[in-house]
Amino acid sequence: MTKPTVRIPSLLAATALGLASMSAHANANEEAVKAQLQDYKATMQTFGKTLKGELQAAMKEGGPMAAVQICNERAPEIAADLSEESGFTLRRTSLKPRATEPTDWERAVMQDFEKRKADGTPIDEIAWHEVKKVDGEKQLRFMKAIGTEGVCLNCHGQDVDPKLKAEIDRLYPDDQATGYAKGDIRGAFSITAELDD
Ligand code: HEC
Repeated sequence: MTKPTVRIPSLLAATALGLASMSAHANANEEAVKAQLQDYKATMQTFGKTLKGELQAAMKEGGPMAAVQICNERAPEIAADLSEESGFTLRRTSLKPRATEPTDWERAVMQDFEKRKADGTPIDEIAWHEVKKVDGEKQLRFMKAIGTEGVCLNCHGQDVDPKLKAEIDRLYPDDQATGYAKGDIRGAFSITAELDD
């Protein structure tokens, strides 16, 4: 009769140990996700600041016709430079894209963003992330909604200057990114990388 009394506690201990190490692992994962999301946000902010700075300077100097060249050339360059520096894949996309078609999962996330906005969530609080295994590699996917401000309407608004619209159409024959109003969701940042843990 001594056997069970020995075996049961050791089994319980093993189970408890197992659970403890599982939750320690979950915490470590959560910490890794949190830290990496901070890095994503910093990279995203650098993108926004750099592009906006150049856009505003070009607008001041040559108006929207000059600024459109900045968006056309510099937006993809800044995204590529930051992606290379950080090791993340960073891009901007939209449900009505000018340059960058969303993937299926990006489209689904942005459709959800529209629902959250309709439910009253302020745009700057609308973000999403998930950890996803892709080809055996754990990836952290992150998206954040981008709002439409007054200055954006020059090139994304309801009545874009016809000369400017002609230039936009020349650069982007399939442009869908007009007709927006202030306060609409213009699109979203999307960042993906392998999760460090
Ligand atoms: C001078 C014209 C111009 C202005 C002003 C402008 N954009 Fe754009 N926008 C463009 C062009 C051109 C592109 C395509 C370049 C690219 O991203 O590769 C673009 C692309 C985008 C994209 C990428 C998704 C897509 O449609 O392909 C987002 C998001 C975006 N703009 C948001 C904004 C926001 C927000 C503002 C205001 C803060 C703004 N834009 C102001 C011209 C403009």
